[in-house]
Amino acid sequence: MPRFAQPFLWIWLPLLVPNLCPTSLEQACGMLLQVEEPADVDAATPVSFRREIAAILLDNCLACHGTRKAEGGYRVDNYQELLKPGDSGMEPIVGSEVDNSELLRRLTCDVSERMPADDDPLPKQQIALMRRWVEEGAHFDGSDAEREQPLGLVMPPLEYPAAPEKYPAPLPITAVAMVPGGEQLITSGYHELLVWSIADGRMVRRIPNVGERTYALAFTADGKRLVVACGEPGRRGEVRIFDFEQGCVVQIVSRAADVVLDLALQPNGQKLATAAADGLIRIIDLESGEEIQTLASHADWVTAVAWSPDGTHLVSASRDKSAKVYDTSRWELVASYLGHGAAVRDIVVAPGQQHALSVGADNKLHRWSLSDASKVSEVGLTAEGFALRVHEQSAMVAAADQRLRKIELSSNAVAHVFEGPTSWALSLDASGELLVGGSLAGEVFVWNLSDGQPLGNWLAKP
Ligand code: HEC
Repeated sequence: MPRFAQPFLWIWLPLLVPNLCPTSLEQACGMLLQVEEPADVDAATPVSFRREIAAILLDNCLACHGTRKAEGGYRVDNYQELLKPGDSGMEPIVGSEVDNSELLRRLTCDVSERMPADDDPLPKQQIALMRRWVEEGAHFDGSDAEREQPLGLVMPPLEYPAAPEKYPAPLPITAVAMVPGGEQLITSGYHELLVWSIADGRMVRRIPNVGERTYALAFTADGKRLVVACGEPGRRGEVRIFDFEQGCVVQIVSRAADVVLDLALQPNGQKLATAAADGLIRIIDLESGEEIQTLASHADWVTAVAWSPDGTHLVSASRDKSAKVYDTSRWELVASYLGHGAAVRDIVVAPGQQHALSVGADNKLHRWSLSDASKVSEVGLTAEGFALRVHEQSAMVAAADQRLRKIELSSNAVAHVFEGPTSWALSLDASGELLVGGSLAGEVFVWNLSDGQPLGNWLAKP
C-alpha cells in the first residue's frame, strides 16, 4: 500500500446520503451520527461524550495531543487520558465544576494560551457544548472498557457526506476490483465507490457512504456482499459491508484508530482479517460482527493480510519491514520474515500453501517458506512493488515503474509486462482472462491476461 502525504482538500456538499439497507439499520448503525447536523445547545438531552465531545476533540485537538505527539504533556486521545493533568498539573476537567476545569479556560482565554494553539478559537457552539458537558458532570456515556479506547472507536458510525458530483482532479486508484461476472469493475473514489463498464469505460453507478479513501475491496463468495476497507488517514478506519445490488451498508466492523489498509475473507469461512495503519490486525466473526482476535505483533502500519487457501495460516506485511505468519487455530505467531529490509507493501500465500510471496520498497518479489521464514527465491522489479495477487500459477505485481507484471511461479520468469499507466501502478485485480490495474494518476487499465494485449483504459473520474 502506498503512502499519500497529501490529503485532498475538497469542499463537498454537506448532504446526507440515506443509503443504509432499511432492514439492517438498527443492527448496523444503532446510533448513526449525521455529520452535518447542527449541535443543538439548548436541547433537553444531555451532551454525549461519544456523539459530540469526541468529535470536537478529534477534529481540533488530537493532532497535538495524541499518542505520537502530546504537547504540554497532555493527551486527549481517549476519555481516561482527557481527565489526566498535563505538565501544568492543573485538572483539565472537573465534573460539574466549570470554573475549575483548565481545559475550558483554555478555550476562551487570552490568545497566548488559547487552544487550539495557533488557530482560531472553536466556534461558540462547540465551546458551549464542551461547557455544558462539564456542567452536566463530564460523564462518559459508554462502557467501562471504552473509556480507554481511541476517540474514533467510541464515536458512533458516520453517515458520510455525499461525494462531489464532479471531481476537480483525478484521485489515486488505491483499490480496484472486478465485479463477479466480469463485465464491470469498481474503483475507489472520494467517499464513494465507482462502478464502471469494462467494455466501454462508462460509469455505471456510484455507491455512496464510504470512508474518505478506500484501500481494499473484496466480494463475498456468493458475490452479493462487497467488503470495503476505508478511512481517513490519521483519524479513523473501518470496514463497511455493502449489499452490492442495492448499494447500501449492511454492517460496519473492524473500527480502527487509523485507516484500514487491507482485508481478507477467510476461504470457505465466516472470518474476516483486516490490516490497519494503527499497527493492528483484527479478526472479525462476520456472523456476529464481533472482533474475536487482535494481533499486535507489528511495530508500524500493517499494510496487507492474506489467508492460506486452506485457512490454516494468516500472513501479514508491514511498513516495519517485516512479514509474519500466524497459525489461525491458536492465533500464534509462527514466523517472521525480515528479508525485504524495507517496508513490505503486499503479501499473498502461493498455491500449494508452502510459501508466502511478498513485495515492497526493496523493489523485489520475495518467495519464502511459511514454516520457518527461510527465503526460497527473489525476482527483481526495478521499482517498489505496491500490489500483489496470485492468479492461477502466476503472481501479478503492480509497481512504481508504471508497470504490472505477470510472473510465472514455476520458473520465476516474467511472462508479460503490462504497460500504459503514466504514474505508479498502485492496485490490481485479475479474474478469468482479464487483468485490471489502477494508477496514482487515476487511470484504469484493462489487459488481456494471456497475451498482454491492452483492451481499454480511462480516467476513473466522475
Ligand atoms: C497546534 C497544536 C495544538 C493544538 C491543535 C491544540 N493544542 Fe493544546 N497545547 C499545545 C501546546 C504546545 C501546549 C503546551 C503549551 C501551553 O500549555 O500552552 C498545549 C497545552 C494544552 C493544555 C494544558 C496542558 C497542561 O496541563 O499543561 C490543555 C488543557 C490543552 N492544550 C487543551 C487543548 C484542547 C482542548 C485542544 C483542542 C480544542 C488543543 N489543546 C489543541 C498545542 C496544541
